[in-house]
Amino acid sequence: METNDLLAGIEKLRRERRAVILAHNYQTGDLQDVADFVGDSLGLSFQAAGTDAEVIVFCGVHFMAETAKIINPRKRVLIPDLEAGCSLAESCPASALAKYLEENREKDYYVVAYINCSAAVKALSDVICTSGNAERIVRRVPEGRNILFVPDQNLGAWVMERTGRKMDLWNGSCHVHVEFTQRSIEEAKRAHPRAKVVAHPECTLAVRLLADEVCSTERMVSFCREDEAEEFIVVTEAGMLHRLRKELPHKRFYAGPTETCACNDCRFMKKNTLEKLYLCLRDMEPEVTVEEEVRRRAEVPLRRMLEWSR
Ligand code: 13P
Ligand code: SF4
Repeated sequence: METNDLLAGIEKLRRERRAVILAHNYQTGDLQDVADFVGDSLGLSFQAAGTDAEVIVFCGVHFMAETAKIINPRKRVLIPDLEAGCSLAESCPASALAKYLEENREKDYYVVAYINCSAAVKALSDVICTSGNAERIVRRVPEGRNILFVPDQNLGAWVMERTGRKMDLWNGSCHVHVEFTQRSIEEAKRAHPRAKVVAHPECTLAVRLLADEVCSTERMVSFCREDEAEEFIVVTEAGMLHRLRKELPHKRFYAGPTETCACNDCRFMKKNTLEKLYLCLRDMEPEVTVEEEVRRRAEVPLRRMLEWSR
C-alpha cells in the first residue's frame, strides 16, 4: 500500500475505533507524525492514565504498552508489533528478581523499578520510576530503607550521584546506550566544537561525564529549546532526532560525528512501522494482555509513581 493510502486508512480507522495513538520519542518519524501524543515514558504513562479513548494503540515497546494496560484493564491496548521488546527489560526476569529478594530477605529491600521492565517485575516492586522522575522518586523512599534499583545499572548509578542515596543496583543495561563510548563522543565534539552534548542517563559514566545535560528524552526537547546553544550532539536513540528537528527547526542536531550517522537505532523500537500500525487498527490485534493477579499487584507501584510525580 502507498504511504498516502496507509495514512488515510489510519485516519479513518482511528475515528471508527475511537482509538488514541500514543508514540514514544524513539519511533520513526512517520509514526510520530500520525500519533495523538508523542513523548517519553513518563508523559506516555500520564496520557494512558488520562485517556477516555476505548482503544489505545501504543507505538513503542512492549513494557510501555503493558504499562498502559495495567492502568486501563478494561480498555483494549494494541501494539503494531508484539515482538517490540526491550533488551534492558529482558535483563531482569521476574523469577531472577524473586530469587534474589528471597536470598536477601534480611535486607528487607525497598524495590525501585525503572519502568523498562515486565509487569511481573513491577508486581514485585514498591515503586516505579522513569528517567524523567527517577531522582524525585528515590528521594521519596523512606529514610533508612535499603533500596534495590532494577534493572538499569547506569540510570541507578546516575540517581545515586544526584541524590547521594546509596542503592544496590541490578546488573542490567540497554544495548543502545552502552554502545556510545567516551571516544565516540569526543570525536563528535571535535567535529562539532560549538555543540552541547545531551545524553540519556542509560549511558555509561564515561559518556555522562562528557555531557552538558543528562536527562530523559522529553527533557532533551525542553533543554535544547531553552538553552542558548544552536547545535547539540544527541546521545540517545536516533528516533529522538526527528522530534528535535521538527520542533526546533532553527537548531542543529547531530547523532554523532556526521549528520547522517545513525549508529544507535533500537532494533525493538524500529519493529513498528506505518503499515503495521494500519493493520493493527484494521484487525484490532496484536493485543497486549496482562494476567489479572499480576496486573493488580503491578498497578500499586505504578499508581504510587504517578502520585509521587504530580
Ligand atoms: P525515556 O523515558 O527517557 O523516553 O526513555 C525510555 C527508554 O526506553 C530509553 O531507552
Ligand atoms: Fe529498551 Fe534500550 Fe530500546 Fe529503550 S532503547 S526500549 S532501554 S532496548
